[in-house]
Amino acid sequence: MAYYPISIQEIKQKVAKKKLFRQSNQLFSYSDFSNVKEITNEFGETLTRIDGEIPVDLKISDGQRFLLISYDQSRYSHGIHKYPAKFFPELPRWLIKRYSKPNDLILDPFAGSATTNIEALLSKRNSVAIDVDLFAKYLAKVKTTPIYGKELSEVVETILKKLVLFNPNEIKNDEIPDFPYRDNWFTKDILLELTHIKQSILKSTDNNDIKDLCLISMSSVIRAVSNADDNCTRTVVRKRLNKEIYPSFALTKFAENLLLNSFRINEFSNSLHNSSFVEIPTDNDARYFTYPDNHFDLAITSPPYANAVDYPRTHQLEMYWLGLANGSLSKLKEKHVGTEVVKAADYNQLHRIGDSDADRIIERIYKLDQRRAYIAYKYLYDMMLNMKEKHRTLKPNSRYIIVVGNNKIKGELFESWKYLMNLSDRIGFKVENYFGSEIIKHFIKVPREERINTDWIIVLKK
Ligand SMILES: C[S@@+](CC[C@H](N)C(=O)[O-])C[C@H]1O[C@@H](n2cnc3c(N)ncnc32)[C@H](O)[C@@H]1O
Repeated sequence: MAYYPISIQEIKQKVAKKKLFRQSNQLFSYSDFSNVKEITNEFGETLTRIDGEIPVDLKISDGQRFLLISYDQSRYSHGIHKYPAKFFPELPRWLIKRYSKPNDLILDPFAGSATTNIEALLSKRNSVAIDVDLFAKYLAKVKTTPIYGKELSEVVETILKKLVLFNPNEIKNDEIPDFPYRDNWFTKDILLELTHIKQSILKSTDNNDIKDLCLISMSSVIRAVSNADDNCTRTVVRKRLNKEIYPSFALTKFAENLLLNSFRINEFSNSLHNSSFVEIPTDNDARYFTYPDNHFDLAITSPPYANAVDYPRTHQLEMYWLGLANGSLSKLKEKHVGTEVVKAADYNQLHRIGDSDADRIIERIYKLDQRRAYIAYKYLYDMMLNMKEKHRTLKPNSRYIIVVGNNKIKGELFESWKYLMNLSDRIGFKVENYFGSEIIKHFIKVPREERINTDWIIVLKK
């Protein structure tokens, strides 16, 4: 007897509708520039709007601003799991085609959920994904690993059958994973359901690629079924949220995600017609590389913003359930560029980076908040280390393309992209081109005055 009246049939029908919608949404590919239009925004500024694929040989002038409309955020494996400040796939796809050739080696040193690497694979390029975040590396591995054959659908069916047989009374208390504030984050019903889901996955297959895809499908529902706000990068429980969490919610949401993610990984796997690879090293940091000189043909990345997203905290619940973390997150945060984990001994004096524009703002922040001033300085210092490593490891005449926005720190406009352009010159890069992309949709919810509106794309040449 099933404990909850869950209908796998109904869930499959719901997923089938989503798949149909996705399949009917064809790739937007134009050769005649008919998807490129000049428009005027609400402030009377001229923007170039591009719908879908960006023409490879698009002419760009310095400072030009684009409104790029993405249609591919859930195509291939891109739609698997949320990730803060994900690239929309058309951007790295275009940069890869414009600045590299098949079989080249491409690097993303702040790879996050591996959007660049998925696009590199689809364009027959090899690539390296570097990230210091354990969750990012795990997600990147799943999203870039093709799965072929019937085994995945068989495992999915086995898991779905087990979900229907869920009986909370069969789960012992000591089987529920233990982590800080667990019972504030989740209701008892949801804890039992998630434990059953995890156990069902672990028992259903020995194939690690399939197991990891299923675990990431579990991870992708965790925030939604928790008591925390699932539209905010910070993991917080809000009193006024009025979230509706009911028994069987985790089981049904997971079943839906598992079916959708196996469809996505199939679509991705079937679109690969080559033996290109993605390497995800365990030990590299964007600032400290083990790669030899003159190694990469192109690097594309979007680094974190200074003092904006706390990645370990964003994914803390997911990491607890995946067994990637179990207690304090401070150690995990230390390696993050833009981190707020800094020592008082460092911030009780003013540090200058050596760029007059940046130093003027850092001084102003220092008068208001010494700690924030040091965080801003350290961000630029770490980005300098990162640019030096890219300069060393890129082949001569190759490009490092950085996509980065501005943000506000203590009310001061911190124009990272301008400071990085100035600093890149000291390292030996030449700024070949720079242009803006208006941000219209991001999984990012920070206070209004700190919203980031334009990403700047800086093309640096070695
Ligand atoms: C804006 S996100 C990248 C998102 C990515 N473009 C995508 O499409 O998913 C920035 C990433 O930089 C990573 N990061 C922060 N500090 C790092 C470091 N020192 N070395 C490598 N990666 C780092 C963060 O973990 C985060 O995943």
